[in-house]
Amino acid sequence: MELLSNWCSNGSLPESYVLPPEARPGNLIVPRGKSIPVIDLQGNDRNETILQILKAGKEFGFFQIINHGVSKDLMDETMKVAEEFHAMSGLDKERECLKDPNGSCKLYTSSYTYPREEFHLWRDALTHPCRPLDQHIQFWPENPTGYREVVGEYSVELWKLSCRILELLCEGLGLSINYFSNELSEAPKIMINHYPPCPEPSLTLGLRKHRDPNIITILHQGQINGLQVFKDGLWIAVQPLPHAFVVNIGYLLQIISNGKLKGAEHRVVTNSRDARTTVSFFVYPSDECLIGPAKALVNASNPAIYKPFKYADFVIASYVNPDNEALEDLIYKSTA
Ligand code: OGA
Ligand code: NI
Repeated sequence: MELLSNWCSNGSLPESYVLPPEARPGNLIVPRGKSIPVIDLQGNDRNETILQILKAGKEFGFFQIINHGVSKDLMDETMKVAEEFHAMSGLDKERECLKDPNGSCKLYTSSYTYPREEFHLWRDALTHPCRPLDQHIQFWPENPTGYREVVGEYSVELWKLSCRILELLCEGLGLSINYFSNELSEAPKIMINHYPPCPEPSLTLGLRKHRDPNIITILHQGQINGLQVFKDGLWIAVQPLPHAFVVNIGYLLQIISNGKLKGAEHRVVTNSRDARTTVSFFVYPSDECLIGPAKALVNASNPAIYKPFKYADFVIASYVNPDNEALEDLIYKSTA
């Protein structure tokens, strides 16, 4: 499977990228007053910040954060090496991703399941683990120049920011502050998505509707539009704000919170003019980790909606098809 960026500028959209009409982007209806909340992390009142984050997590499953403490220079440098990586030739990119004999650094196009896909997506992706840094950095790309140094520093900062947001969420939910400081957040990953300009943006997508299969995601989406959140049957565009991060609640956190927080569905649309590169920091549990509603959130008036399962089984069930019955059987408590 050839990377999209190797051939995408030939000017036409192959049939295998044309989605069925119901899955196409369609016209975007922007509901009035329904933009994603923007939360100032330097707000003076910590309790107020917690309330804002909790409200956004319940209503939207998404929010943007400003004054988050990650330097603008580091964000800009990270975006620069991310763009430079995807601008390299296909062969160079592949070579840079072969440094780990166990294949921890992954480069692919569309999705992991490319060979089995009914339709392909207009996207290339690079992903690799990032913590602990000294166990992974030697397998990361060495080119473009500065990749390891910049993305290394970025991973450290984004880890701190993730912990801070998880702590605020814990306080808001009524969980102990270190609830996630264990195997629940043991395997964070960096993902660099690249969506080249697309000849037919109305017929295809960069990413189809999905929930992130993790705890939380912190996204650096740069300056180009593309991300949309599904809320109350409508798609809401997430407006790029300079040097803000987009935070979203993952499917696993929805389950742990017993449905209090929403692992919101989202997608990425393409455009015909600008290439779009994004950098995601995904907080993932270890494969062996047991996921289920937090005990502190379950009682007689809030019975558990979900039952415990091993994270690795969730991955296998989602791999088959994210909307499938196998996944529902695995996570939902039967009500019979
Ligand atoms: C993802 C994702 C959004 C984006 O990688 O899961 O939703 O804007 N990315 O790239
Ligand atoms: Ni996502």
